[in-house]
Amino acid sequence: MAKLADIGLIGLAVMGENLVLNMESKGYTVAVYNRTVEKVDKFVNGRGAGKNFIGAHSIKDLVASLEKPRKVMMLVKAGKPVDDFIELLIPHLEEGDIIIDGGNSHFPDTIRRTKYVESKGLLYIGTGVSGGEEGALKGPSMMPGGSPAAWPHVKEIFQAVAAKVEDNEPCCDWVGEDGAGHFVKMVHNGIEYGDMQIICEAYQMMKELLGMNADEMHEVFKEWNNDVLDSYLIEITRDILGFKDEDGEPLVEKILDTAGQKGTGKWTGVAALDLGIPLTLIGESVFARCLSAQKDLRVEASKVIEGPKTKFDGDKAQMINDLKDALFGAKIISYAQGYNLMMEAAKEHNWNLNYGGIALMWRGGCIIRSVFLADIKSAFDNNPNLANLLLDPYFKDKVEKAQAGWRRVCATALSHGVPVPSLTSALCYFDGIRSERLPANLLQAQRDYFGAHTYERLDKPRGEFFHTNWTGRGGDTASSTYDV
Ligand code: 2AM
Repeated sequence: MAKLADIGLIGLAVMGENLVLNMESKGYTVAVYNRTVEKVDKFVNGRGAGKNFIGAHSIKDLVASLEKPRKVMMLVKAGKPVDDFIELLIPHLEEGDIIIDGGNSHFPDTIRRTKYVESKGLLYIGTGVSGGEEGALKGPSMMPGGSPAAWPHVKEIFQAVAAKVEDNEPCCDWVGEDGAGHFVKMVHNGIEYGDMQIICEAYQMMKELLGMNADEMHEVFKEWNNDVLDSYLIEITRDILGFKDEDGEPLVEKILDTAGQKGTGKWTGVAALDLGIPLTLIGESVFARCLSAQKDLRVEASKVIEGPKTKFDGDKAQMINDLKDALFGAKIISYAQGYNLMMEAAKEHNWNLNYGGIALMWRGGCIIRSVFLADIKSAFDNNPNLANLLLDPYFKDKVEKAQAGWRRVCATALSHGVPVPSLTSALCYFDGIRSERLPANLLQAQRDYFGAHTYERLDKPRGEFFHTNWTGRGGDTASSTYDV
């Protein structure tokens, strides 16, 4: 009998093709299947020709060509197609076989599917795969979660195909139970939204306030990429700013300013709202895309509403330096908030998340890869129970040092009317988290005034609730006794 395959893959779109080519190049035999079956032969005789692929024309054939325990990975459109393939696979699989979803599934779906597949005696993995088409081929960042018993069976192959950083460390490790892998991938995407937005805000400041052209900005990003901001997104921004259209003009300035989104940033924001975590920088980044999409409204408003007319007359070189500090400070806040969200989700869903490992998984292969993530890994290595990244001595020091420049950027932007929602909201979070006392005492008084929602007192133990008859009119009944 012919050699059996080490793993099977369903879904021969570009990501799927690239990932199996990557697997094959690492010495694995891969069986492939696709809903539109012609694509199987096209791939096996095309990009896969002469390589260790087994083309399957049915789910039954695919399963029959796999070594046990069987591992079948799906890279298909998120949503119903994933559930459909799970149903098609189950009758052909045996106890201990593993179904893997490598698509962009929403984590609650992965939680549900893990339970369902496990109830059939099988194992399930939902894995984030980041890095786009090129990453899939050359080494993605992979974030697997699901049935812990499945991990030892896929560890070798996953770590072989994943991106590698210093010391040949793979950007792939076990994330946690059921939906943890897809949750962490979702947070990765949220952080990506934030990193992109703050870069765009710096660009807006350089362009609108400092009057810099694309070539000058290209030089600034080039310099920034050699220092603490060294990252994929700074690097591609540098290249984008240096890219010329056919007429020799910078292409970026000809692109319509309405941002698209596929929804993972929104999911991250919604998860934060559900869990009550202040994920302000990412939240503002999602809303900034929403405002950008209201182009017609903005064009109309720009004709009738006036802002400040002040011209920038400060020190340009100083402002460029300040922008670098602002980006660095805000980036630290973004990760502090993202980690805070993951910590709360871990509590809610009983996940044992490996926070340092997550930073390492994001260190290479994916869109948010940066040198900065090595410092996050160190922070959690030094203190695995770190409550917030801002309490780590290294990050505390960095953000304290960045704040002067960052404040000048925000103050200047606000006084000159340049919108920098993510940079400012991150700074407000920074000032909020270091405030021993916030004005929520007044807020509680307001709630008690109009809704008898009660309050706790500084001079009484926590858990004792008080209600005041503020007007002398209403009664003494607290709202806890009725529902409004
Ligand atoms: P296709 O080639 O038959 O369209 C990315 O789109 C991958 O998801 C492709 O392999 C595609 O298969 C698959 N896919 C998209 N929608 C699907 C569906 N409703 N059912 C099964 N597979 C689907």
